[in-house]
Amino acid sequence: MNSLRISDILKGALIGQQLSVNGWVKTFRTNRFIALNDGSTLNNLQCVIDYVSFDKQLLKSISTGASLNIVGTLIKSQGAGQQVELQVEKLNILGQSDPTQYPIQPKKHSLEFLRQKAHLRIRTNTISAVMRVRSQVAQSIHKFFSLKKFYYIHSPIITSNDAEGAGDLFRVTTLDIENKPLDNKGKIDWSQDFFGKPTHLTVSGQLEAEIYALGLGNVYTFGPTFRAENSNTSRHLAEFWMIEPEMAFYDLNQNIDLAQEFICWILKDTLEQAIEDLNFLNQRFKEEQLSKPLIQRSPLDLIERIEFILKHPFERVSYQEAIAILKNSKPNKKKKFINPVTGWGMDLQSEHERFLVEKHFKQPVVIYNYPKDIKAFYMRSNPDGKTVAAMDILFPGIGEIVGGSQREERLEILQERIEQLNIDSKELWWYLELRKFGTVPHSGFGLGFERLIQFITGMTNIRDVIPFPRTPGSVSF
Ligand code: 4AD
Ligand code: MG
Repeated sequence: MNSLRISDILKGALIGQQLSVNGWVKTFRTNRFIALNDGSTLNNLQCVIDYVSFDKQLLKSISTGASLNIVGTLIKSQGAGQQVELQVEKLNILGQSDPTQYPIQPKKHSLEFLRQKAHLRIRTNTISAVMRVRSQVAQSIHKFFSLKKFYYIHSPIITSNDAEGAGDLFRVTTLDIENKPLDNKGKIDWSQDFFGKPTHLTVSGQLEAEIYALGLGNVYTFGPTFRAENSNTSRHLAEFWMIEPEMAFYDLNQNIDLAQEFICWILKDTLEQAIEDLNFLNQRFKEEQLSKPLIQRSPLDLIERIEFILKHPFERVSYQEAIAILKNSKPNKKKKFINPVTGWGMDLQSEHERFLVEKHFKQPVVIYNYPKDIKAFYMRSNPDGKTVAAMDILFPGIGEIVGGSQREERLEILQERIEQLNIDSKELWWYLELRKFGTVPHSGFGLGFERLIQFITGMTNIRDVIPFPRTPGSVSF
């Protein structure tokens, strides 16, 4: 007999039928009631044992965490709390679970504890809800771009160029580090390495996406990216996923328009597709808020927060305006910022970004036209000679969620910039050639997938929205 998924069984259309179901025991009460879960939904299937006629030896082996196959008849539930239940006729233990050792007991566990049990935490309500939402959002992203006729391209993971120029790279090598080959100057001889030169894991698929945009028009990448930043924060991972659309013939404003349309479409689709899990996460979010001091509580719940964003266009301000707002702000005048607002040219820290979004504008903010010295080499110079056509999108509770720009498409200006920044132009010969053969204005942005999932699910720590987080000093599983 083919087994059914619990999410389908609970729809209730199969009352009176004999069915087979597989899953893990969430709880086992009074030797009679098994709450079975198979990951297809938050809800458990109540399976009822006839204690009198049941094999007593078998009964002893049923415990939280055990995996079972059950065949039984679906009936209208006799008790409150569920519509249907399964009368157990045959029960087969697929895998026992020692109740004295199984870490996921039917009680509340801290998220810190669960991170250390990342191989079992997916059996909890919170993490399974988050991961189902994560999967749903990934599907929505592909759906959006498919509707918009963007091509999905797979950018390389191993690369020899540093797109962001930030220098936080994970080296990829097959050289024997105990016994490195040296050249005649005593330096490492990379020509003997696997690729014949130094390579690392990519920090961004953007530069390759640009190549494809300049042939296919509109493209996007959606892949893992790697940054060896030593940032132990609730918003940074060493391995995270990024969505990077790149569009030929788009200027900065069209880029911002697309980013806003994209984010809102994903939020709306997720509300429709994943409402059961979102309602559960919303409950969790509200309880968590209650444990916070009043002034730190979010005025909106999780669902209201998403709906608010769908109703209000993002606020757009130039970097210059943002600095003026920060300079005149109360926390700056009262010296409450850890990093004082020094003025034009400074990089915005997350405390500044969060002030703008959460206190000043109280809605998502797009900041554009940043000073060129705090941004990457590929961003297009503005006529003022001081700023570049960059944009960051800041979200409540998250800070920066998107970074993007119009790209410098003018060969001479790009070359000049590369020289000023002492970037090795030999590695970028192909990037420069794109500006020689049919160059066009083009733009793109990168959205941090985990930060979006944090916003949607209300999880405070980024380590709880990716199956296996990689952070400084931590790479288990
Ligand atoms: O602003 P970033 O560095 O932009 C780029 O990489 C560009 N190449 C994007 C483009 O124009 N195609 O990163 C983009 C986004 C950030 O806004 C943030 O959401 C996320 O990626 N991000 C991280 N997320 C988790 N952990 C980290 N260490 C992250 N670093 C960036
Ligand atoms: Mg950025």
